[in-house]
Parts: sequence; structure tokens; C-alpha cells
Amino acid sequence: MNVPIDADLAANQTVVVAVDGTSGSGKSSTCRAVADRLGLRYLDTGAQYRAITWWMLDNGVDVHDAVAVAAAALTPVLVSGTDPLDPTITIDGVDVSVEIRSDAVNGAVSPVSTVPEVRARLVDLQREIVGAGGIVVEGRDIGSVVWPEAEVKIYLTADPAARAARRALEAGGADVAATQESLLARDKIDSGRAVAPLTMADGAIHVDSTDLTLDEVVDLVVGLVMERV
Ligand code: DC
Repeated sequence: MNVPIDADLAANQTVVVAVDGTSGSGKSSTCRAVADRLGLRYLDTGAQYRAITWWMLDNGVDVHDAVAVAAAALTPVLVSGTDPLDPTITIDGVDVSVEIRSDAVNGAVSPVSTVPEVRARLVDLQREIVGAGGIVVEGRDIGSVVWPEAEVKIYLTADPAARAARRALEAGGADVAATQESLLARDKIDSGRAVAPLTMADGAIHVDSTDLTLDEVVDLVVGLVMERV
């Protein structure tokens, strides 16, 4: 981990930085770099929704059957590591950090995330991990539901074309048009669901990363955190 750039902030281990936003807006890279720069922990809540979705698919649960998903959501043991340089995720002891990025999980994660019992279980787990603070947390409902008292709330977005180009590049040159279609389909479900839809939380600062480099976004967010703690 880098040496924290601000000794006072490193001593202030209670800060919670909530970063919400659309798929592919750069949340993960931004949050990991911000946490590393400031000596904070990091939690990717999307990875938790993905891991539980992977487990449902692996156990033959019909992800479009909300009753079956709700019942199955109570079973698996989910563990998230919070080192920004090596964020791990295991479910029932299986490391699924690679599997959770598959097309099968991409296609099933939004319907699973709309089930209230899934959200209730994961929100409890997220609040336990956030605990006494000192953490950067990314997701869709962190500033609105999981931790509304976060000292810093960011709403990170980017144009769909820019998001699709970034995701396709990460996926080793996947088809940009198909990637954009999949992102927009997930945006629609994430923003339209009844429970904890993706929305800009009260007090959040909107950062549009379309024309910014990763370093520029990280500098901007680090600056906002320093200003507020
Ligand atoms: O950030 P991501 O693309 O890895 O998230 C995967 C899915 O998880 C996304 O389609 C919506 C869901 N999600 C959610 O509903 N609430 C969160 N706090 C984080 C993710």
C-alpha cells in the first residue's frame, strides 16, 4: 500500500467514502486507487451481488424465480477482503473473483439484485464490514441506503459509449456495441427496481468521468475527501 498522502487523514480511520454510479463508470478503479492513496479499506458491493448470483447459477437456482432466489439467499457464506490492492471474494470458501465477471453472471446479476431478501442480507453484511469506518465503498445504494451518514458521497457516471469502450477493453477487446447493450440493460433494471434503485443520494457530488482520465478522477475524489475530513 502507498504511504498515505495525508497523515491527519490516515489517523482519521473513521471516514466513510460512498461511491455510487452506473456500471462501467470507473467506480472500481477509482475507489481502489483512492483507498490506496488515503490508507483506507475498500469494499466492492457489486462483487458481493455478483458472487451470490454466481452461487445461485452454480446451484441450479432459477434466477428469475424471486421466491427461490429469496430462499436460497440465506444459505451461502460470503467473505469480502478489503485490501484495495488485493480485494478478494469467497463464497462458501470458494474464491470466485474471476468467475463473477463472466457473461453468465453479467446477465443474471440484475434480476438477483432486485430481490429484497438478497438486498437485506447483503446490506447487513455491508454495514458490518463498514463498521467503524476507514473505508471506501462502491455500489448503487451506498450513499442512499447502506451508509447515508457517509462523510463523502460521490455519484460517478460516464456516457454509455465511454463506459462500453472501457469495459470492452477490460474484457480483452470484447464487442463494444454488445457491451453497451448489456450495460444499458443493467442500468435500466438497476435504476427501475422497487428496492434501493440506483439514484443520486442526498448530499452526493456528481462526477462525470467521460472526459477525465482515471488519475484525474482519483485526484478529484481524493481532494473532496481531504476537504471534508
Ligand atoms: O458494480 P457492478 O457492475 O459490479 O454491479 C453488479 C450488479 O450488482 C449491478 O447490475 C447492480 C448490482 N448492485 C446493486 O444492486 N447494489 C449495489 N450496491 C451494488 C451492485
